[in-house]
Amino acid sequence: MSTDGVNVGRRRLLIGATAAVGAVGVGFVAVPFVKSWTPSAKAKAAGAPVTADISQLEPGQKVTIEWRGKPVWVVRRTPEMLAGLKVVEAQLLDPNSDNEAQQPAYAKNATRSIKPEYLVLTGICTHLGCSPLFEPEKAKIQADWLGGFFCPCHGSKFDLAGRVYKGVPAPKNLEVPPHSYDSEKVITIGVDKEHA
Ligand code: FES
Repeated sequence: MSTDGVNVGRRRLLIGATAAVGAVGVGFVAVPFVKSWTPSAKAKAAGAPVTADISQLEPGQKVTIEWRGKPVWVVRRTPEMLAGLKVVEAQLLDPNSDNEAQQPAYAKNATRSIKPEYLVLTGICTHLGCSPLFEPEKAKIQADWLGGFFCPCHGSKFDLAGRVYKGVPAPKNLEVPPHSYDSEKVITIGVDKEHA
């Protein structure tokens, strides 16, 4: 899993720790690591559900979980981020998630989620399949930007519920994959009441 978001200090710390481990471990752990992960990778490719503990995710951060070879994002939204969803609605192509193929029925709501605090999205642009960037900082992409996702390939923009802006190449909202909560902070991607 990888994280990014507004907490730059923590990210630097994580990057530093990873670099140190990599420098020591090169050449010694590479083969056993790959072997032990082969069955898991096959299972994932076949569509096995993936469970993740999201208790370490801080407000404003995103974590990426791999499911069926695709990135699935979990974003922990702050109250301010949630309040912004209403503000940007007039700029969106499908603000009410009327395209039912883009989310399970339980995510067809104002926050496109089971729990408003946690957004779960497949991180694949609905234009030609690039992976958009998480851009939580205000005014980063346009003057009235309240945070969201920006696709660097052809400039599509999505809000913090994965809803696509009008006037960009992407024709649909980002997809919400099937998911469910095993407990308050443990999430499983690929399993829910509709897709058990
Ligand atoms: S693939 Fe994202 S805008 Fe084209």
